[in-house]
Amino acid sequence: MNPIEVEHLSRTFNGLKAVDDVSFSVREGEVFGFLGPNGAGKTTTINMLIGQLKPTSGRACIMGWDINAQKDKIKQHIGVVHEHQNLYERMSGQENLVFITRLHGVNPRRADQMLERVGLGEHAKKRIQHYSNGMKQRLLIARALLHQPQVLFLDEPTRGLDPSVAVEIRKLVKELAATGVTIFLTTHYMDEADQLCQRVAFINQGRIEALDTPEQLKVFHGSCTTVITLKDGHKHNLSLDTAEERQRLADWLAEDSILAMHSGEATLEEVFLKLTGRSLL
Ligand SMILES: Nc1ncnc2c1ncn2[C@@H]1O[C@H](COP(=O)(O)OP(=O)(O)OP(=O)(O)O)[C@@H](O)[C@H]1O
Ligand SMILES: [Mg+2]
Repeated sequence: MNPIEVEHLSRTFNGLKAVDDVSFSVREGEVFGFLGPNGAGKTTTINMLIGQLKPTSGRACIMGWDINAQKDKIKQHIGVVHEHQNLYERMSGQENLVFITRLHGVNPRRADQMLERVGLGEHAKKRIQHYSNGMKQRLLIARALLHQPQVLFLDEPTRGLDPSVAVEIRKLVKELAATGVTIFLTTHYMDEADQLCQRVAFINQGRIEALDTPEQLKVFHGSCTTVITLKDGHKHNLSLDTAEERQRLADWLAEDSILAMHSGEATLEEVFLKLTGRSLL
């Protein structure tokens, strides 16, 4: 049994299919990415999987518990960081976490452990209003993990963060997965999905259009471009998909006019555009 199992899950809002017949499973310790543009259905999927929103049809299980019939059982197994989430600004990082441990009957010592775990040990006593956005995001992740859940849901964990801060958050996510936490994350940053996720589902208008490892998605759906630099200094981008382009290459080779050739792998962004006709941003 996988920590997350989803079968034909759908959710309709007033006739709009926000999530349309999605099926997938996520393995233990995997970082699974839901990659899609605004309004694709990412948050709606998370809200159903964490028991906050009733599916219109289909089913899903988290750690073997049904999200509909047994949603109270799910709470202890999941941690969630929502898209827009607040901390108590006037409290310190430590006070924020201790407050939650009291609320949920968790040993308060977990607060300090988690602060260390996410690299905020030295900022424990600082008020949230003096935290940077990256530090707040770390604290939200720490808060979601206080009760030691096996599955962590992250809804756009790096949205709005500076690139250098986003790198730190991704590193933390990787470390958490390495300790066996199963991570479901949504993003519309293709680099994030590429670097972080073992497998990625492309979601567009509520439907999963493709699901595979980033490498396979690029190899199967992306066309490799070849950059050719001629001895006369001109550069040409060839996809080598057509007989015409292959002939051009053959001609240059026959004329011995090629100085250098480099092949470039397709990006997930290109593959997404090819499969859905939509850009990610
Ligand atoms: N409570 C709701 N009532 C009506 N429509 C909704 C509701 N929640 C979401 N929707 C609609 O469902 C679709 C999917 O929304 P969702 O929030 O899941 O997208 P998303 O992929 O998370 O987008 P974003 O990247 O902007 O966060 C959108 O068209 C949205 O307007
Ligand atoms: Mg969303």
